[in-house]
Amino acid sequence: MTARESSVYRCQQCGFASPKGGTCPDCKRETGTFIELVEERTAPARGTRRAVASSERPRPLKDVALDRGDRAPTTIGELDRVLGGGVVRGSLVLIGGEPGAGKSTLLLQAARALARSSPPVLYVSAEESAAQVKMRANRLGIDGDGLLLWAENDLSAIQAELDQVQPRALVIDSIQTVFLPELESAPGSVAQVRECGARLMTLAKGRGIATFLVGHVTKEGALAGPRVLEHLVDTVLYFEGEHHHAYRVLRAVKNRFGSTNEIGVFEMGERGLAEVTNPSGFFLAERPHDAPGSVVVASLEGTRPLLLELQALVARASFGTPRRTVLGADYNRVCLLLAVLEKRAGVPLASQDVFVNVAGGGRVTEPAADLGIVIAAASSYMDRPVPSDILVLGEVGLTGEVRAVTGLEPRLRAAAALGFRRAVVPASGATDRPKLALEIVPVETVERALGVLLG
Ligand code: TYD
Ligand code: MG
Repeated sequence: MTARESSVYRCQQCGFASPKGGTCPDCKRETGTFIELVEERTAPARGTRRAVASSERPRPLKDVALDRGDRAPTTIGELDRVLGGGVVRGSLVLIGGEPGAGKSTLLLQAARALARSSPPVLYVSAEESAAQVKMRANRLGIDGDGLLLWAENDLSAIQAELDQVQPRALVIDSIQTVFLPELESAPGSVAQVRECGARLMTLAKGRGIATFLVGHVTKEGALAGPRVLEHLVDTVLYFEGEHHHAYRVLRAVKNRFGSTNEIGVFEMGERGLAEVTNPSGFFLAERPHDAPGSVVVASLEGTRPLLLELQALVARASFGTPRRTVLGADYNRVCLLLAVLEKRAGVPLASQDVFVNVAGGGRVTEPAADLGIVIAAASSYMDRPVPSDILVLGEVGLTGEVRAVTGLEPRLRAAAALGFRRAVVPASGATDRPKLALEIVPVETVERALGVLLG
């Protein structure tokens, strides 16, 4: 061990580094997840050093040229938007998701599209045989001009082949199944994943190859193993979706070349992933009319408003502690909102089971959906429907006040475009409302909203 190196224990599950072993305080997994590694103390992992080109001397900000990167559009609009407008040459993109989410499908489709605009593209399958990938390609109707396929998991062999092929884009499916033979640990271990990631970073940057890495996520939601790569790569995308629902959402959680707010929506069908350019229509397609407990909200994902149907079912608890079951929203947030509904609007929920669901397997992540959740629960409790042409928006505070939401205008526009006629919105933000064929009903409190919608 040289002076610059020291030994650390690294959690095999999440990559947490510690001077000693034991239980990982980060992912709270049982003991025995730590392995001892020899690591350089201060130097960053190989390959990260030239991630940002050093500018020669300090200079005024106004003189710095804007560099949007050398981008190649994949022509899959939903993917390009999440990447920040196409894939950047020499960038390293990690795509995480549960097994079966559709990562291989998405990347095969992206590889085909890139092979048309910037060939050649090399798709390395370290998980499935070439014949298996070919079968998927047939299903997707991919012919493969300019697209090279290779079933290989030895990264040093892959590296050698890159000299011959000189691809413009590279897919490694997956980072957990490729390995460097000089390391003793098994493929998928933290040491392998980290070293392979660093090696691929050097290759991507050095040769200007846009590189996509597939990373499997465990059931608990952590990018096990690949999490150690999150700081290294340029972009981290998650591909999410319920198995029994056709829709899939691609979300950026880190992006050095674009916003992390954008999402891409796809539908998994018989012939692969189709872009869903009007996700609101998709989510509202099966909405029941005039059913108690159903409310439509508009969430804003990046620049794009998404209309979603919230459903609540409030039923008398048969025994013991009443149940709270939440799908597609934050559990604690829903509990808080139910407490506000009880205390500030006098809806007695203490003896009621409450189930909250976002229809179609969707997800709400922002407080603008608060009022919708409160109204849906109240609507179900009272067994009175909210008129189906009304959109409900607003953050709810603990005193029962309805607070302003950001991006009111795009949300209202999206609702108007889908035929909504009225919108219940926070009074405080309703002054700068756009001129739309939509009647605006400003409310200041939850109580007032209940009066307007269910009174
Ligand atoms: P896959 O891309 O293999 O997922 P991952 O690489 O994330 O593990 O595909 C996931 C599922 O999608 C698989 O169970 C089969 C299904 N599927 C379709 O429904 N239609 C299709 O055209 C394809 C290729 C897959
Ligand atoms: Mg796969």
